[in-house]
Amino acid sequence: MDKKVTVVGAGNVGATAAQRLAEKELCDVVLVDIVDGLPQGKALDLAEAAPIEKHDAHPTGSNDYAASANSDIVIITAGIPRKPGMSRDDLLSTNAGIMKNVTQQVAEQSPDAVLIIVSNPLDAMCHVAYETSGFPKNRVIGMAGVLDSARFRTFIAMELNVSVENTTAFVLGGHGDTMVPLPRYSTVAGIPITELLSKERIDALVERTANGGAEIVKLLKTGSAFYAPASAAVEMAESILKDRKKILPCAVYLEGEYGFNDLFIGVPVKLGANGVEEIIEITLTAEEKAALEKSADAVRELKELLKKLS
Ligand code: LAC
Repeated sequence: MDKKVTVVGAGNVGATAAQRLAEKELCDVVLVDIVDGLPQGKALDLAEAAPIEKHDAHPTGSNDYAASANSDIVIITAGIPRKPGMSRDDLLSTNAGIMKNVTQQVAEQSPDAVLIIVSNPLDAMCHVAYETSGFPKNRVIGMAGVLDSARFRTFIAMELNVSVENTTAFVLGGHGDTMVPLPRYSTVAGIPITELLSKERIDALVERTANGGAEIVKLLKTGSAFYAPASAAVEMAESILKDRKKILPCAVYLEGEYGFNDLFIGVPVKLGANGVEEIIEITLTAEEKAALEKSADAVRELKELLKKLS
């Protein structure tokens, strides 16, 4: 195929993302992981499904980054996931080391790629990838808002017993407990949910969304969510590969937008062939702005911690 995407990390998120990319016939797919045999085995298994799934995405796996050379997009999922009781922030030092190492090798092999960061703690890992790669800010993008918004949409659809397709939702801020779901901008068939649900019910859905990742970790016990995170990363990749210019909430590097500087945080952006093609600034109420500030503080705190670690 004429596009190539590498997924780093052949764990649950990475392998599921590779499967979705291949089955949507978006690109050739390369899986890279340090564990001997793991990316090779999962890629071969995916390749053997291809005659039935009807795609020519040529999934391959390797422990060597040379296999990732000249990728259009690299999705980085490498790192350890949460266990029950852990916050995303508890992963900081381990995953920062992994992210640095991975980004160095990825940037060397694919200097023109767009990086989609999935590893946690997400916003802090975006900083590591941005600094390590030296890539321009339009080519380092964090996956969080699409996932958090999908969770919010799921809960809205469950609550109102309507199709998930009728729902839209926006979740801004960091990918943590302080994320900022925006009910005013969340709709069912164009109708703001504030017209359809009581404040109490909306607050409950907002809280469930903010704890959406932890809810899955608690159920799975041995790892974190992967179907929805993989879908979210692939939606972003598709918009870039096909230059669809979708407006999606993503963690991007802000320089003045929303009043923030030198900070990765989730805001609505336009994703096209050049990666982040526009950051869309929407008007926030004082309350929403305060919630976003609080979320930004949490990201800044992790950024400071990262500095101390390095
Ligand atoms: C979650 C993890 C992947 O939100 O951050 O499920």
